Amino acid sequence: MNKQLRKAVIAGNWKMNKTPAETTALINEIKPLVADADCEVIVCVPYIDLAAALEATKGSNIKVGAENCHWAASGAFTGEVSAPMLAACGVEYVITGHSERRTYFGDTDVTVHDRTRAALDNGLKVIVCVGEYLEQREQGVTMEVVRSQTKIALAGVSKEEMINSIIIAYEPVWAIGTGKTATAEQANEVNKAIRELVGELYDAETADKAVVQYGGSMNAANADELLAQPDVDGGLIGGASLKAPDFAAIVKAASK
Ligand code: 13P
Repeated sequence: MNKQLRKAVIAGNWKMNKTPAETTALINEIKPLVADADCEVIVCVPYIDLAAALEATKGSNIKVGAENCHWAASGAFTGEVSAPMLAACGVEYVITGHSERRTYFGDTDVTVHDRTRAALDNGLKVIVCVGEYLEQREQGVTMEVVRSQTKIALAGVSKEEMINSIIIAYEPVWAIGTGKTATAEQANEVNKAIRELVGELYDAETADKAVVQYGGSMNAANADELLAQPDVDGGLIGGASLKAPDFAAIVKAASK
């Protein structure tokens, strides 16, 4: 983290976990543990849990996000939820491009772009996920993959939107839910490359201000080392975000 230039952001991605009642209970447990955080704290929860999360976080420093949104405002898209619907509920953030959406639900670079655009157009802040598969890392094309995912997602995003409303999360797919964390150096190398790309697409000021998280088996034990890297501005946390003490420990590491 470089706290002179950027605010650290720790976001939980609960994935397909927790009922509304469990959401209230977990947030009530997290709240006092992160009350004095010197970083942004976000919980991204299933659609069905958003109302409970918004209610439970009222008056606290925890922000609420959704895990996806559709690109259209409304229409015949059974099972989907749109960005204006999320905004109307009071949701502030949304994740786009998570590798699980890309792998299991057919998301492509183009649909990730479209979802990101719809979210921005409706005043939401977006955590855009990018990252390579293991075979791609082994083939030596990590940078090409991550650059192209990022570039397509950000097409048409203004400098102002980039600075104020976009967080990029680098999540190597092979590190997600596997317990295999990227080394701090691997994480920083790709995060730095993403920042350089933002510099190419915008300018040096935007690159300095861009928040680039790392995600993939980040936990209480490895957060310090990952967050000590200059280009790792926070984390997108899966499994460890479902346990209040673990999530709070990561928030604490980002608050140093
Ligand atoms: P894990 O922290 O469970 O590896 O998940 C990371 C992730 O996918 C966050 O979006």
